[in-house]
Amino acid sequence: MPTLRVVVLVSGTGTLLRALLTACADPNYGVTVTAVGADRSDAPALRAARAAGVETFACAVEDYPNRLAWDTELTRLVGRHQPDLVISAGFLKLVGAPFLREFAGRFINTHPSLLPAFPGMHAVGDALAYGVRVTGCTVFFVDGGVDSGPIIDQRVVPVLPADTEDILHERIKVVERAMLADVVGRMSRLGWTVLGRRVVLG
Ligand code: GRF
Repeated sequence: MPTLRVVVLVSGTGTLLRALLTACADPNYGVTVTAVGADRSDAPALRAARAAGVETFACAVEDYPNRLAWDTELTRLVGRHQPDLVISAGFLKLVGAPFLREFAGRFINTHPSLLPAFPGMHAVGDALAYGVRVTGCTVFFVDGGVDSGPIIDQRVVPVLPADTEDILHERIKVVERAMLADVVGRMSRLGWTVLGRRVVLG
Protein backbone atom coordinates (compact mmCIF):
# COMPACT_ATOMS: atom_id res chain seq x y z
CA MET A 1 0.00 0.00 0.00
CA PRO A 2 1.45 3.43 -0.93
CA THR A 3 2.25 5.55 2.07
CA LEU A 4 2.28 9.32 2.52
CA ARG A 5 5.73 10.54 3.58
CA VAL A 6 5.39 13.12 6.34
CA VAL A 7 7.84 15.41 8.13
CA VAL A 8 6.51 16.84 11.41
CA LEU A 9 7.78 20.12 12.90
CA VAL A 10 7.43 20.65 16.67
CA SER A 11 8.49 23.02 19.45
CA GLY A 12 6.94 21.75 22.64
CA THR A 13 5.66 18.69 24.42
CA GLY A 14 4.60 16.95 21.23
CA THR A 15 1.30 15.40 22.21
CA LEU A 16 0.01 16.08 18.68
CA LEU A 17 3.07 14.31 17.30
CA ARG A 18 2.48 11.35 19.60
CA ALA A 19 -1.11 11.05 18.36
CA LEU A 20 0.19 10.93 14.79
CA LEU A 21 2.86 8.37 15.63
CA THR A 22 0.25 6.20 17.34
CA ALA A 23 -1.98 6.39 14.25
CA CYS A 24 0.99 5.54 12.00
CA ALA A 25 1.50 2.25 13.85
CA ASP A 26 -1.57 0.93 11.98
CA PRO A 27 -0.43 -0.11 8.46
CA ASN A 28 -3.90 0.71 7.09
CA TYR A 29 -3.43 4.34 8.11
CA GLY A 30 -1.12 4.88 5.12
CA VAL A 31 1.23 7.45 6.65
CA THR A 32 4.93 7.27 7.55
CA VAL A 33 6.60 9.96 9.65
CA THR A 34 10.03 10.06 7.99
CA ALA A 35 11.49 12.74 10.28
CA VAL A 36 10.65 15.13 13.11
CA GLY A 37 12.29 18.56 13.30
CA ALA A 38 12.28 21.19 16.04
CA ASP A 39 13.41 24.79 16.50
CA ARG A 40 15.22 23.78 19.72
CA SER A 41 17.33 20.73 20.41
CA ASP A 42 15.79 20.13 23.88
CA ALA A 43 12.15 19.94 22.73
CA PRO A 44 10.55 17.00 24.60
CA ALA A 45 8.79 16.12 21.34
CA LEU A 46 12.17 15.14 19.81
CA ARG A 47 12.65 12.57 22.58
CA ALA A 48 9.23 11.09 21.79
CA ALA A 49 10.19 10.85 18.11
CA ARG A 50 13.51 9.15 18.85
CA ALA A 51 11.76 6.71 21.21
CA ALA A 52 9.53 5.77 18.28
CA GLY A 53 12.60 5.20 16.09
CA VAL A 54 12.03 8.30 13.94
CA GLU A 55 14.93 10.40 12.69
CA THR A 56 15.11 13.90 14.24
CA PHE A 57 16.81 17.22 13.56
CA ALA A 58 16.96 20.62 15.26
CA CYS A 59 17.27 24.00 13.57
CA ALA A 60 17.39 26.89 16.06
CA VAL A 61 16.97 30.48 14.83
CA GLU A 62 19.73 31.72 17.17
CA ASP A 63 22.30 29.47 15.44
CA TYR A 64 21.96 31.43 12.17
CA PRO A 65 23.06 34.97 11.25
CA ASN A 66 19.55 35.96 10.15
CA ARG A 67 16.05 34.65 9.62
CA LEU A 68 16.58 33.99 5.90
CA ALA A 69 19.62 31.79 6.60
CA TRP A 70 17.60 29.84 9.20
CA ASP A 71 14.67 29.45 6.83
CA THR A 72 16.91 28.27 4.00
CA GLU A 73 18.52 25.64 6.22
CA LEU A 74 15.15 24.49 7.59
CA THR A 75 13.93 24.11 4.00
CA ARG A 76 16.98 21.97 3.19
CA LEU A 77 16.66 19.80 6.32
CA VAL A 78 12.97 19.09 5.66
CA GLY A 79 13.50 18.64 1.90
CA ARG A 80 16.13 15.92 2.45
CA HIS A 81 13.29 13.63 3.54
CA GLN A 82 11.29 14.24 0.34
CA PRO A 83 7.98 14.70 2.18
CA ASP A 84 4.60 14.54 0.49
CA LEU A 85 3.29 16.55 3.44
CA VAL A 86 4.90 18.75 6.10
CA ILE A 87 2.97 19.16 9.36
CA SER A 88 3.46 21.94 11.85
CA ALA A 89 2.28 20.28 15.09
CA GLY A 90 2.84 22.93 17.73
CA PHE A 91 5.80 24.45 15.83
CA LEU A 92 6.00 27.95 17.26
CA LYS A 93 7.84 29.70 14.41
CA LEU A 94 6.62 31.46 11.30
CA VAL A 95 8.53 30.19 8.27
CA GLY A 96 9.62 32.46 5.45
CA ALA A 97 9.33 32.64 1.68
CA PRO A 98 11.86 29.93 0.72
CA PHE A 99 10.13 27.35 2.91
CA LEU A 100 6.63 28.34 1.76
CA ARG A 101 7.72 28.22 -1.91
CA GLU A 102 9.27 24.78 -1.58
CA PHE A 103 6.36 23.21 0.32
CA ALA A 104 3.46 25.18 -1.18
CA GLY A 105 0.26 23.15 -1.10
CA ARG A 106 1.80 20.50 1.14
CA PHE A 107 2.47 22.34 4.41
CA ILE A 108 -0.31 22.20 7.03
CA ASN A 109 -0.71 23.55 10.54
CA THR A 110 -3.09 23.01 13.43
CA HIS A 111 -4.38 25.86 15.57
CA PRO A 112 -6.42 25.90 18.81
CA SER A 113 -9.31 28.10 17.67
CA LEU A 114 -12.02 28.17 15.02
CA LEU A 115 -10.19 30.26 12.42
CA PRO A 116 -10.51 32.95 11.22
CA ALA A 117 -11.37 33.79 14.86
CA PHE A 118 -8.42 34.24 17.21
CA PRO A 119 -5.31 33.74 15.04
CA GLY A 120 -1.87 34.11 16.62
CA MET A 121 -0.02 32.82 19.64
CA HIS A 122 -2.71 33.44 22.29
CA ALA A 123 -5.74 31.86 20.62
CA VAL A 124 -7.14 30.12 23.70
CA GLY A 125 -6.72 33.07 26.07
CA ASP A 126 -8.13 35.45 23.44
CA ALA A 127 -11.22 33.27 22.94
CA LEU A 128 -11.77 33.05 26.70
CA ALA A 129 -11.30 36.81 27.17
CA TYR A 130 -13.74 37.53 24.33
CA GLY A 131 -16.40 35.42 26.03
CA VAL A 132 -17.23 33.07 23.16
CA ARG A 133 -19.41 30.08 24.12
CA VAL A 134 -17.79 27.73 21.63
CA THR A 135 -14.27 27.57 20.30
CA GLY A 136 -12.32 24.65 18.84
CA CYS A 137 -9.48 23.83 16.51
CA THR A 138 -8.58 24.13 12.83
CA VAL A 139 -6.26 22.29 10.43
CA PHE A 140 -5.28 24.47 7.48
CA PHE A 141 -2.73 24.94 4.70
CA VAL A 142 -0.07 27.46 5.67
CA ASP A 143 0.24 30.57 3.51
CA GLY A 144 2.23 33.79 3.97
CA GLY A 145 -0.15 35.18 6.64
CA VAL A 146 -0.70 34.36 10.31
CA ASP A 147 -3.06 31.34 10.52
CA SER A 148 -4.79 32.58 7.36
CA GLY A 149 -4.51 29.74 4.82
CA PRO A 150 -7.22 27.49 3.31
CA ILE A 151 -9.08 25.46 5.95
CA ILE A 152 -9.05 21.66 5.73
CA ASP A 153 -11.13 20.76 8.80
CA GLN A 154 -12.44 22.20 12.07
CA ARG A 155 -13.90 20.80 15.30
CA VAL A 156 -16.00 22.62 17.90
CA VAL A 157 -15.25 22.62 21.65
CA PRO A 158 -17.70 24.28 24.11
CA VAL A 159 -16.36 26.83 26.57
CA LEU A 160 -17.44 25.93 30.14
CA PRO A 161 -18.05 28.42 32.97
CA ALA A 162 -15.12 27.21 35.11
CA ASP A 163 -12.59 27.19 32.24
CA THR A 164 -9.16 28.69 32.65
CA GLU A 165 -6.86 29.05 29.65
CA ASP A 166 -4.98 25.86 30.61
CA ILE A 167 -8.10 23.78 31.25
CA LEU A 168 -9.72 24.90 27.99
CA HIS A 169 -6.52 24.37 25.98
CA GLU A 170 -6.18 20.82 27.32
CA ARG A 171 -9.78 20.06 26.28
CA ILE A 172 -9.15 21.55 22.83
CA LYS A 173 -5.97 19.51 22.45
CA VAL A 174 -7.86 16.25 23.03
CA VAL A 175 -10.07 17.11 20.06
CA GLU A 176 -7.17 18.61 18.07
CA ARG A 177 -5.15 15.38 18.32
CA ALA A 178 -8.03 13.26 17.04
CA MET A 179 -8.76 15.75 14.25
CA LEU A 180 -5.15 15.92 13.06
CA ALA A 181 -4.77 12.14 12.98
CA ASP A 182 -8.09 11.82 11.15
CA VAL A 183 -7.31 14.56 8.59
CA VAL A 184 -3.82 13.30 7.77
CA GLY A 185 -5.16 9.76 7.30
CA ARG A 186 -7.85 11.03 4.95
CA MET A 187 -5.31 13.15 3.03
CA SER A 188 -3.21 10.03 2.56
CA ARG A 189 -6.08 7.82 1.44
CA LEU A 190 -7.99 10.37 -0.68
CA GLY A 191 -5.43 12.95 -1.85
CA TRP A 192 -6.30 16.66 -1.89
CA THR A 193 -6.89 19.65 -4.11
CA VAL A 194 -6.85 23.32 -3.11
CA LEU A 195 -9.19 25.49 -5.20
CA GLY A 196 -8.68 29.06 -4.01
CA ARG A 197 -9.77 28.89 -0.39
CA ARG A 198 -11.66 25.62 -0.79
CA VAL A 199 -9.94 22.36 0.09
CA VAL A 200 -11.29 19.15 -1.39
CA LEU A 201 -10.19 15.74 -0.08
CA GLY A 202 -10.72 12.98 -2.63
C1 GRF B 1 -1.55 22.79 20.05
O1 GRF B 1 -2.73 23.28 20.65
C2 GRF B 1 -1.23 23.60 18.82
O2 GRF B 1 -2.34 23.98 18.06
C3 GRF B 1 -0.58 24.79 19.45
O3 GRF B 1 0.24 24.25 20.45
C4 GRF B 1 -0.31 23.02 20.90
C5 GRF B 1 0.76 21.96 20.72
O4 GRF B 1 0.65 20.98 21.69
N1 GRF B 1 0.12 25.60 18.47
P1 GRF B 1 1.71 19.76 21.81
O5 GRF B 1 3.10 20.35 21.92
O6 GRF B 1 1.56 18.91 20.58
O7 GRF B 1 1.28 19.04 23.03
